[in-house]
Amino acid sequence: MAKLKTLFVCSSCGYSSPKWSGQCPGCREWNTMNEEIETKSSASVATVSNKNRTFSNVSAVSDISTSDELRYNTGIGELDRVLGGGLVKGSVVLLSGDPGIGKSTLLMQACGTFSNDKTVLYVSGEESAKQLKLRAERLGVNSDQLLIMTETDVETVCEYIKSQKPQVVMIDSIQTMNHAEIQSSPGSVTQVRECTNLLLRTGKSLDIPIIIVGHVNKDGAIAGPKVMEHIVDAVLYFEGERNYAYRILRAVKNRFGSTNEIGVFEMNDIGLSEVENPSAALLSERNTNVSGNCISCVMEGSRPILAEVQSLVCTSGFGNARRMSTGFDFNRLNLILAVLEKRFGYRFSTMDTYLNIVGGLHLDEPAADLSVALALVSGITDKPVPDNVVAIGEIGLSGEVRSVSRISARISEAARLGFDKCIVPRSCLKQLKVKTDIEVIGVRNLHEAIANVF
Ligand code: TYD
Ligand code: MG
Repeated sequence: MAKLKTLFVCSSCGYSSPKWSGQCPGCREWNTMNEEIETKSSASVATVSNKNRTFSNVSAVSDISTSDELRYNTGIGELDRVLGGGLVKGSVVLLSGDPGIGKSTLLMQACGTFSNDKTVLYVSGEESAKQLKLRAERLGVNSDQLLIMTETDVETVCEYIKSQKPQVVMIDSIQTMNHAEIQSSPGSVTQVRECTNLLLRTGKSLDIPIIIVGHVNKDGAIAGPKVMEHIVDAVLYFEGERNYAYRILRAVKNRFGSTNEIGVFEMNDIGLSEVENPSAALLSERNTNVSGNCISCVMEGSRPILAEVQSLVCTSGFGNARRMSTGFDFNRLNLILAVLEKRFGYRFSTMDTYLNIVGGLHLDEPAADLSVALALVSGITDKPVPDNVVAIGEIGLSGEVRSVSRISARISEAARLGFDKCIVPRSCLKQLKVKTDIEVIGVRNLHEAIANVF
């Protein structure tokens, strides 16, 4: 019997080495090298063997027809949007997110629509058939075209798919799937990679779309090798703060559509409902005429979203001022505070500063800078930013307000939600195409912005 070879594989980047080490030489992560048994020898073949080959898979690009690129509607508008207009036949989609964020719920709801006119196979390695039935009942899903399979052996699943040919397949989750020929435990790098590969080959050969759930580890990356992201057609991240009802679905990779789109959902007692008007939802509990708050407009994909930036600035009781930021980059906050202190003389170094973005939203676009700066100035001076003002712009180190993209879309969104005044970078005024009743004020620097607001 051939001797089993041991390999140490990094669970973060997939780097493999015959020797164990505390730090992965590939990605420099610590404690990620796990022992796995190598099953197949991968001797490289440098010569081309003499086999009769046919080249039927070469064709002119003009001859390839795309009319049969069929998309199945999931019945969930926000999910369809993120997928680029529906689930493409034969595609493999990875849906990942923190535990408890609602991945299984989203899949079950999509199953509800698919099973109206298609046979759907839902494979679960995590929950029992009873548990799934209970969830389906709660979500109002009931169809004899929806087949539930509680199985963890990936070869059995693929055999079933080959023989029964369901029209859509859901796998929940890839970390519970097990390939009998691979000796490492389920969830390990090799298992995840091989199971994904087998599912992918099965799905592609029969033109069946497969949605695979993948868990993320504590750093937020998909547990298992990065290669999994490379082999699938689309990678969707489901994110949000567990304590908030809002969830955002984001495409990180999509071979069949744009990666800019996001879908916004709200989790309630009958599952996930779509939030078609996220700005209005985020501003619904807004406190008016309070100092420290300012409204910003950021682009999430092609969609402008209004978000409320809140700050609290109070005298520091200790030598070191405390700074805290939720939903906004901490270093960026420090940078804006430094600009305000150095260029405008606001003494933030003696103040504790807390910043929060309402609704569990993360603002990672520089266009939110101006509203953060105005919220901070409002916080320290105790003068409220008027409730009808939206501020948009990136702040440079010398206090200048720099231009941002898609200004017309942002201003239209502000106008739609009833705001009267928009502070924007002066250089953006010439890009402005829409005519709205809203007053648009172009500013060159923070000085002008502060003068126009307070
Ligand atoms: P779930 O889809 O099981 O999460 P995941 O598969 O991503 O781990 O959903 C988990 C949470 O959603 C759970 O804490 C309960 C909540 N939930 C609701 O609030 N309402 C519902 O209708 C459902 C089905 C779940
Ligand atoms: Mg689940």
